Amino acid sequence: MKIFLDTANLDEIRKGADWGIVDGVTTNPSLIAKEGKPIEEQVKAICDIIDGDISAEVVAIEAAAMIEEGKKLAKIHKNIVVKLPLIREGIKACKALSSEGIRTNVTLCFSAPQALLAAKAGAYLVSPFVGRLDDIGHVGMELIEQITAIYSNYDYKTQVLAASIRTPIHVVDAALAGADVATMPFKTLDMLFNHPLTDKGLEQFLKDHAKSLAKS
Ligand code: E4P
Repeated sequence: MKIFLDTANLDEIRKGADWGIVDGVTTNPSLIAKEGKPIEEQVKAICDIIDGDISAEVVAIEAAAMIEEGKKLAKIHKNIVVKLPLIREGIKACKALSSEGIRTNVTLCFSAPQALLAAKAGAYLVSPFVGRLDDIGHVGMELIEQITAIYSNYDYKTQVLAASIRTPIHVVDAALAGADVATMPFKTLDMLFNHPLTDKGLEQFLKDHAKSLAKS
């Protein structure tokens, strides 16, 4: 499973890149707004750090404008994936951009029928939001299971990007469900490292090593 960072913050992206385990980045208009720079400038800077898929989202809500905006975003860098909302106009724009070889990430997916439409429209990625479904009392991960099963039944090439991932358990469950990608905040990625037995074990190894040095 690929690991993406769900942030537009360059410091976080640099830290993740330094670990050598980040395959890509997803952004959205809220994450871009937090950084205070125009989207073009911010995603270009991200592309200079990570050599992988970098999602940049359109803010237009009408297909023709989405297509125009998507084409501009795609020109920023070869790794840009144009993010489109899963609404009627977004699916129409997805079909048009995909037909021209521009890779798309259909976002704000909250149901299996929506994911089916994204695949039919030739999306490169579909982003089902796990955490936001959990927030309203659904089991978000069931959606990932449904979509991976449906895509596998029909050999759809659209990759399932588990989004709105908040915890290490979400990451494990996404991997068990066969998600192609999990995108997560830096904080969640950082948590994946933690285990008290690792810390305890390392402490003991280093103590024993120091003792053996003292003896020699
Ligand atoms: C997906 O690409 C979105 O940017 C993101 O995962 C949303 O996560 P949130 O629900 O934690 O805001």
